Amino acid sequence: MNAAIARLCHLAQQPSRRIVGLMSGTSLDGLDVALCRLTGHGAATQLVLEHFATVPYGDDVRRRIRQVFAREQVSLEYLTLLNPWLGRLHAGMVLDCLRTWQVAPAAVDLVASHGQTVYHAPAHQHSQADFAGLNATLQLGDGDHVAQGTGIITVSDFRQKHLAAGGEGAPLATYGDYLLLSSPAEARLLLNLGGIANFTYLPRAGADASAAFSTDTGPGNTLLDAAVRAHRPGLQYDEGGRLARAGRVHAGLLGALLGHPFFAAALPKTTGPELFGPAYLAAAQAATGTTALGLEDLLATLVELSAVGVARAVQQVFGPGAPLPAVYTSGGGAHNPALLGALRRHLPGAAFASTAALGVPPDAKEAILFAVLANEAVAGQPVALGAGRQRVPAVTMGKISWPG
Ligand SMILES: Nc1ncnc2c1ncn2[C@@H]1O[C@H](COP(=O)(O)OP(=O)(O)O)[C@@H](O)[C@H]1O
Ligand SMILES: [Mg+2]
Repeated sequence: MNAAIARLCHLAQQPSRRIVGLMSGTSLDGLDVALCRLTGHGAATQLVLEHFATVPYGDDVRRRIRQVFAREQVSLEYLTLLNPWLGRLHAGMVLDCLRTWQVAPAAVDLVASHGQTVYHAPAHQHSQADFAGLNATLQLGDGDHVAQGTGIITVSDFRQKHLAAGGEGAPLATYGDYLLLSSPAEARLLLNLGGIANFTYLPRAGADASAAFSTDTGPGNTLLDAAVRAHRPGLQYDEGGRLARAGRVHAGLLGALLGHPFFAAALPKTTGPELFGPAYLAAAQAATGTTALGLEDLLATLVELSAVGVARAVQQVFGPGAPLPAVYTSGGGAHNPALLGALRRHLPGAAFASTAALGVPPDAKEAILFAVLANEAVAGQPVALGAGRQRVPAVTMGKISWPG
């Protein structure tokens, strides 16, 4: 038998595994690296986060990714080169973190590598007649390069199985959220405010699991960050929501932005900066004569848009004015008081807390969830949630790369 397969069988039979989860979302702020100890699998999974860091992407990394990111037309040569380059970059970042944490790579069982999303193309969003009805998504940072670069068996490219099984390839949070954070005491909404905002609804543990589902709700930080970058070259985001809090919502522009059919479409749904990008904003500004709107007012309006997107999706689930489950926030937008304030206004009556209250640091949550998926791929079973709202496919996800 191939020694690497024997090693994998051995790992699968151990009571626990040490897994580095990696995540880099659409914000291009950096690579989230979460070293986790996972004991057991499935509903019995126990997770301890041993170390976490976000390794920031420098200007050069962001520049290279933006050459292809969310662009309908790119240099195929550039894209081809970026794939192994990002795999090596991520491998180096993992090794740097392990060195800082004084953990030997040989003491880590698996890397769970999400890769860098460069294009998300659900059927409802792309306009390629040749592929009508087909969902697709593309993450770069090849897993073989991560495995070879770290010397650690790597599970990568999780989203393709979800697509192959009939999903949109996102959000994948349903699985890990369900396994780690279902509670017999309460139903929960786990609201992640990344570049795109999404939530997972978890019914009370023991209730009908098929009611669990995840959906994107629209932009989270992506339009905010783009506006800051365009008006204040050198700044990446509106620290503490200070600029947005100094502005006033422009009702006309907000109305035009909310006129996009995405906000009224049935749940669950997924999206990305391919839709919620500069062209979408420019069209709404042109239509409302707000092209010259100042940055503060623009950010206040975009914060409102993100919050209303979340509120509309929540109301689609529970009905307007209905009592809401507890809301637990995560992702970088959870650090933006302007966004949290708007969410509280639009979801009155909901109790808000950070996922930290559940023992999951909000910045580490997404990277942790990929460690959970890798653990299931190696030691678990397809997670069966049943034929509920999402028809969450019962699959294990990820491709396995050997070092050496
Ligand atoms: N202190 C902060 N104040 C305001 N916004 C913040 C703060 N920290 C992070 N963010 C926002 O969060 C984003 C990163 O969120 P993240 O959850 O990493 O998203 P992604 O999954 O898309 O990478 C940043 O680009 C920024 O918009
Ligand atoms: Mg990020």
